[in-house]
Amino acid sequence: MSFGVCAAIAPHTPKLITNTDAPEHTRLRRSVNAPFLVKRIEAMRPAVQRIVDDLIDEMLAGPNPADLLTALALPVPSLVIAELLGVPYEDHELFQENSNRVLDSSLTADEAAEAGRALSTYVGTLFQRKLAEPGDDVLSEMGAKVRAGEMAPQEAISMGVAMLIAGHETTATMISLGTLALFEHPDQLALLRESDDPKFVNGAVDELLRHLSIVHSGLRRVAKDDIEIGGQTIRQGDGLLFDLQAANWDPEAFPESERLDLTRPARQHNAFGYGPHQCLGQNLARLELQVVYSTLYRRVPTLRPAAPIDRLTFNHTGTAYGVGCLPVTW
Ligand code: HEM
Repeated sequence: MSFGVCAAIAPHTPKLITNTDAPEHTRLRRSVNAPFLVKRIEAMRPAVQRIVDDLIDEMLAGPNPADLLTALALPVPSLVIAELLGVPYEDHELFQENSNRVLDSSLTADEAAEAGRALSTYVGTLFQRKLAEPGDDVLSEMGAKVRAGEMAPQEAISMGVAMLIAGHETTATMISLGTLALFEHPDQLALLRESDDPKFVNGAVDELLRHLSIVHSGLRRVAKDDIEIGGQTIRQGDGLLFDLQAANWDPEAFPESERLDLTRPARQHNAFGYGPHQCLGQNLARLELQVVYSTLYRRVPTLRPAAPIDRLTFNHTGTAYGVGCLPVTW
C-alpha cells in the first residue's frame, strides 16, 4: 500500500519538500537534513535560552497584563529561525515583523501576501550574500549545495521560506496553547514549575504535543494504489486526510488518552506526522518548547490568565488550531 503527496493534483505549484515524492523528495530532504540533526540542534540551546530569557525580561518590564502570543509565543520561533538561517542582527526587526504579518489573522489576505513577498525577497537577497560570504548557518550550507550543482538557487530560497512558515505558527501555537492547557491543569503546571529534571521537561513537551495535536488540518495524501482498510476500499487516485488527533488520542496507544498527564511516556505520538514527510524541524521545535516550558513558569511563578478562558477566541481555520491572543498577568 502506498500514498503520495498532492503535487500531481496541483501540477503548477513549484516543487517543494512538502509536495514531492521520492526520489525528488529524498534529494530535497537530504539537502537540508544535517542542520536539523539532534547534535546540531542541541548546540543551539544556549542561543535559544538567551532569546527566551530576553523576551521574558522585556515582557516583565512592559505593561501587566500582556499578550503572551505577541510577547513570547510568536517572537521565539521567528528569532530562532533567524538564528538558524543566519539573518544578521540588524535585519532582525524587518524579518520578525514580516514573519508575524504573514500569520496575523487580523490583516487582509493582500496585506499578508505582501508580507510574504517581502520575506521571500529578503531571503533571496540574503541567500545571494551567503553565496558570496558563507557563514555557519543553514542558508550558507544550502549555498554550498547550489555551488556543487546539487540544488537549484530557487529551491534553496523556497526551502528557507518554507522553514520559516512551517516552524513559526506551529511552535508559537504550542507555546500559547500549551500554557493555556497548563493553566487549566494547575496540578500539572505545578509539576513543571517545580521540576528541574530535564528528562521530565522533555517528556512534558511530548505529552503536550500529543494532548494538543495542534495540526488540525490533517495530513493530505493521494492513494497510489487501491487500498483495503477496515473493509473499505480506497481507490487509486483518491484523496485522503489523516487525522493526527485520532492517532494521538487512541486509548490503546495512550490509556486515558483524554487526560493531560505530564508523567506519561508520550514520545511515540504522531504530532509531527509519520513517514518520509515527518516534521523536519521536530528536534528544533522540541528544543524551543523545552526551553520555554522550563523557563517561563519558573521565572514567573505567579503567571496566570488575565481574562476568563471562555472569552478567548480560537483559530480553527489555519493549519494549526490555536488561540488568537492570550492575556496573562503575574
Ligand atoms: C510544534 C511545532 C511543530 C509541529 C507540531 C509540526 C508539525 C509538522 C507535521 C505534522 C508535519 C508533517 C506534514 C505532512 O506529513 O504532510 C511537518 C512537516 C514539516 N515541518 Fe514541522 N512542525 C513543527 C515545527 C517545525 C519547525 C520548527 C520547522 C523548521 C524550522 C518545521 C519544518 C517542517 C518542514 C520543512 C516539514 C515538511 C517535511 C517534508 O515534507 O519532508 N516544523 N511538521
